Amino acid sequence: MNRDIFFRAAREYGTPLYLYDLGEMQRRIKLAQDTLNSLDFKIFFAMKANSNPYLLRFIHSYGIGADVVSINEYKMARFARFRPEEIIVNGNGKSMEDLEFYIAQNPLCINVDSKEEIAKFGNKNARIALRINPDVDPKTHPHISTGLKENKFGMDFETAKEVIKTLPSNLRLAGLHCHIGSQITKIDPFIEAFSSIERFVKSQGIKLEFLNVGGGWGIDYKKDGTEMDLAGYKKKIVPLLSNFNVPIYFELGRFITASAGYLISKVTEVKRNPYKNFVILDASMADLIRPSLYDAYHEIEILNDGEEMISDIGGRICESGDIFARSRKIRTPRPGDLAVIHDVGSYGYSMASNYNLSLRPAEVAFDGEKLILIRKRERFEDILNLCLEDKNENF
Ligand SMILES: Cc1ncc(COP(=O)(O)O)c(C=O)c1O
Repeated sequence: MNRDIFFRAAREYGTPLYLYDLGEMQRRIKLAQDTLNSLDFKIFFAMKANSNPYLLRFIHSYGIGADVVSINEYKMARFARFRPEEIIVNGNGKSMEDLEFYIAQNPLCINVDSKEEIAKFGNKNARIALRINPDVDPKTHPHISTGLKENKFGMDFETAKEVIKTLPSNLRLAGLHCHIGSQITKIDPFIEAFSSIERFVKSQGIKLEFLNVGGGWGIDYKKDGTEMDLAGYKKKIVPLLSNFNVPIYFELGRFITASAGYLISKVTEVKRNPYKNFVILDASMADLIRPSLYDAYHEIEILNDGEEMISDIGGRICESGDIFARSRKIRTPRPGDLAVIHDVGSYGYSMASNYNLSLRPAEVAFDGEKLILIRKRERFEDILNLCLEDKNENF
């Protein structure tokens, strides 16, 4: 992305600011579609990665469906014009209220996470898939591994067998689902997971209408070439999946939006103590929690041409963990310079919070020419309003 766009966006909309490059998002969608083009497939965008309705509409225009994990994500998908038959419902620990809502909406499929969840359907009709936990190590950060037996998601094969045997007739078992983790860059864990599902399907004689293999495709955060091995996926996994002879569903999140997003912020202070340098930004873990939560790496670019220095880069929150990068080589900034954090289009804004009463940033899309405001900056009044009753005398 051209630096001028960052300056222009910051000038027009202030900082901190999320900026999305629609051209990059389109490129990623095409890349995923090209990788899978010899399969009968459909991609569902994992909305937990980014639920901005403008971006959802953009993604939808490429024939992509939505993967939702809450009633509000479902409502947002509908607002963004996804039809119920283009929506897959996921999530563990669904409440009775959740299930009643989803069943009434009649989505393409509800992925059932546990044996216990089956009972919550009562005698209502639904088209379901069982989420299998194949006990495979995806070799990613432990907080984003989901398919190991110690993880809370899905059911092991023995439990799935029992569920299938005792499934009430109001529930139609249309498919199996698995999602083994996120930011996966090697294909071996996928081979292991999908092969064990293939053995299970054959041994149980299950007639599938589709197989849902989740998401998890990793991106190159460090710009060192470590990312999802798409060539390997096309060569080894696509043939394995075509053996199932049914449509294959994918729930990609990170792969589609991460590299299209930038968090533009302003340097507020350059602070030195006898041991270290600290560059403090007007963005913080409240705007982007991934580095604090997962030790996630994001490239950080200071928009000046100064000398290089080594520094920690942190935010304005009262937490030692509010650090975006440690001992990072960057251009020496001056207060007021812009700092741009890269690859934040997934699990960026969607994980933002009001910690320290931070106000959530604005979001802007860039279409190659224009900047389009796609979410206003939150205001203090927006937060205060939630605390006020009609004419609250407590304030
Ligand atoms: C069930 C499910 N599907 C899809 C995804 C999307 O994963 P990713 O963003 O790694 O593609 C997730 C993310 O955690 C998930 O839990």
